[in-house]
Amino acid sequence: MQNIAKGAFAPANEQDFVVSFRNIEKIYGGVKAVDAVSLDIRRGELVCLLGPSGCGKTTTLRMLAGFIDPTGGEILIEGQNVTRLPAYRRDIGIVFQNYALFPHMTVAKNVEYGLISIGMKKAERQDRVQEILRRVELQHLADRYPRALSGGQQQRVALARALALQPKVLLLDEPFSNLDAQLRVRLREDLHGLIRSLNMTTLFVTHDQEEALTLADRIVVMNQGLVEQIGSPEEIYDAPSSRFVAQFIGSCALLEGNIDGDGQFTSHAGFQLQTSASPGTATIVIRPEYVRRSEELPTLRSYRAHVDASDYHGHTSRLQLSVGSDKLLMDARFPVGRKPNQGDLIDVAIDPAGVRVVPQQAQEWRKQNTI
Ligand SMILES: Nc1ncnc2c1ncn2[C@@H]1O[C@H](COP(=O)(O)OP(=O)(O)O)[C@@H](O)[C@H]1O
Ligand SMILES: [Mg+2]
Repeated sequence: MQNIAKGAFAPANEQDFVVSFRNIEKIYGGVKAVDAVSLDIRRGELVCLLGPSGCGKTTTLRMLAGFIDPTGGEILIEGQNVTRLPAYRRDIGIVFQNYALFPHMTVAKNVEYGLISIGMKKAERQDRVQEILRRVELQHLADRYPRALSGGQQQRVALARALALQPKVLLLDEPFSNLDAQLRVRLREDLHGLIRSLNMTTLFVTHDQEEALTLADRIVVMNQGLVEQIGSPEEIYDAPSSRFVAQFIGSCALLEGNIDGDGQFTSHAGFQLQTSASPGTATIVIRPEYVRRSEELPTLRSYRAHVDASDYHGHTSRLQLSVGSDKLLMDARFPVGRKPNQGDLIDVAIDPAGVRVVPQQAQEWRKQNTI
């Protein structure tokens, strides 16, 4: 198993790209569902398409699978232009949202089905089915029918079926959306381990930011058919390129204002914060875990804040604060019995590491970055 740190991929050669989208677009009745998407996926990489419902994730994935014809652009798999190839000639494995298992076939038959359709000999087929069921830990359920399986087990059958054909790329479209929250987390960990151990090149679609942050080597944030940002989970979270990305991934406060020649930001309502950004109109993003009690950051400027709401989450508390008429969020641990309540006043400081200045429009980022 290759051990690759998140986001730590070396610059790739052309031949390292298993999938390339080049300016892919899809127009439905005059509306661009997918707009000029360009993306290279490296061998063994797990890429997540992340964005709100309707932003074009499924359409992008299905164009790669060959179920939808792009209106424009090209798709390459291992350097071969597959834009006009039918789905069955693309060497792609896909796990659908509802798993789409054959209800009248056993687990083993479901997995074997694709192997029959490519004309594999019986003995080889049975070996392959055994091997793949062992990998996903389903050997003991080989003779069950899908209706007698839990949601998580059905998902593993769907995965086994997709992997049986040894695809070049594995595609998963919201594979956990039909599962309850606890099972979702466990299966996510299982799936992650499995994909890693197979070193499988994977494109994963989700609207769930936590899922994307946990699983992905790189995240592609989409909004209304457009790519807003591509980056490692850390880059997306710590250095969002736009208001949209900042708000969609994690929680934050967004303040509008101006930065003067000394880097001092002043919001429209008068909140001031030192930055190192250049002068001009600005939106600043402040992550809640960087808003701290003043006593923890005694050298930094202190702000008197009114507690608008105070919610206990076990490991931390989330406070909604007002500083003048600007709003901040704060995530912090307080000593037992000292959690501020609604209506209290507290003194806070802002760790500069958690402050980003973002452009008003993602287009500025897109212009600066070849994606
Ligand atoms: N067959 C279709 N005909 C017309 N519009 C479609 C069709 N499929 C998707 N769309 C539209 O394209 C946009 C993107 O859809 P989709 O890719 O399914 O989004 P996501 O998977 O991100 O939720 C949506 O506005 C959706 O309504
Ligand atoms: Mg979808």
